[in-house]
Amino acid sequence: MALTTVNDTYNRPLRDVRVSVTDRCNFRCPYCMPAEIFGERYKFLPREELLTFEEIVRLVGIFVDLGAVKVRLTGGEPLVRKSIESLVEQLAGVEGIEDLTMTTNAYLLPSMAQTLKDAGLQRVTISLDSLDDEVFRKMNGRNFGVDTVLKGLEAAESVGLTPIKVNAVVQRGMNDHTLVDMARYFKERGHILRFIEYMDVGTLNGWRMDDVVSAAQIVSMIDAELPLEPIEANYHGEVARRYRYKDGTGEIGVIASVTQPFCGDCTRLRLSPEGSIVTCLFANVGTDLRGPLRAGASDADLAEIITRRWRVRDDRYSEERASMTDELRTREKVEMYHIGG
Ligand code: GTP
Ligand code: 5AD
Ligand code: SF4
Ligand code: SF4
Repeated sequence: MALTTVNDTYNRPLRDVRVSVTDRCNFRCPYCMPAEIFGERYKFLPREELLTFEEIVRLVGIFVDLGAVKVRLTGGEPLVRKSIESLVEQLAGVEGIEDLTMTTNAYLLPSMAQTLKDAGLQRVTISLDSLDDEVFRKMNGRNFGVDTVLKGLEAAESVGLTPIKVNAVVQRGMNDHTLVDMARYFKERGHILRFIEYMDVGTLNGWRMDDVVSAAQIVSMIDAELPLEPIEANYHGEVARRYRYKDGTGEIGVIASVTQPFCGDCTRLRLSPEGSIVTCLFANVGTDLRGPLRAGASDADLAEIITRRWRVRDDRYSEERASMTDELRTREKVEMYHIGG
């Protein structure tokens, strides 16, 4: 239970924490970690700069005291962080967390799903941009086939890391011709597929509005083959808009951060691998907690720093995007691989 709650300048409470546990990833999706930039010689964070599991658990405990009820582990790719199950186990013991989940590319799930379930992970969200092998090989930048991800998904299902959600980023001319097949596949299997509008996160992916397929276009594409109707959100502030198949066999979601921004309900705080809190996916700076933490700050001191930062939070980037000049839009921003979406 939260000890005190804190609201930002738009009266938004702190409810969700997204913990990025590493800046490394075993994929090189061109829209996130282009292989030309993230090559052999790229300098990822050295180990001593990463928060330890004990430090993460301590900070999460403080976030929970300030109102957080949902914790999502992300990266980079969270499963490449050594002994990640130990962090899951420690977080599962933090009282007040109602939803403990992870976003993963599933590549390492076949061997890790059971361990993660046993450690107390409740469910997973799997990133998979296409079921077309050729398209997917291009979109993960490492020439991995779809079967590796589907094996991970099946492993997660068989150990009960459910409900499973699948996230697909839609890029015009890249995977938009494969969306209906994906919808059909996951409809038959009862998993919740969510299409994400391609966003201008970071500065490395060369985003252009022309590459975005709008949620409205996505919905109408699917609806033409598999009739849909909109349904209510599961909870206030849910990022995805939900649609159910009219034949009663499941649902999809669309995450329309570009064409229908949802900043008004944004209750998300992000913790970077090196221990800064970031109040928006499009922020250019964070507030360091690792320094004070390692210098001996008490929980009350840390709560004070977090509260002070949250109280002045006024981020609503996605709502402002439409009226921004290109110059403003492409100023320095935190990279997606670093902060995990
Ligand atoms: P559930 O708890 O399952 O409802 O998940 P969620 O809606 O929190 O979804 P998830 O963490 O899978 O987020 C899906 C994607 O939505 C992310 O990977 C991002 O691409 C995008 N997203 C999530 N949060 C934000 C946000 O605060 N702002 C923007 N612009 N996009 C976001
Ligand atoms: N636009 C939209 N979604 C993105 N993701 C990564 N980069 C982008 C982007 N530019 C997604 C990943 C994953 C989640 C963590 O964020 O595909 O599903
Ligand atoms: Fe890795 Fe996810 Fe980024 Fe792809 S989108 S490079 S899987 S962190
Ligand atoms: Fe929240 Fe920033 Fe995303 Fe808006 S753009 S929903 S404020 S993270």
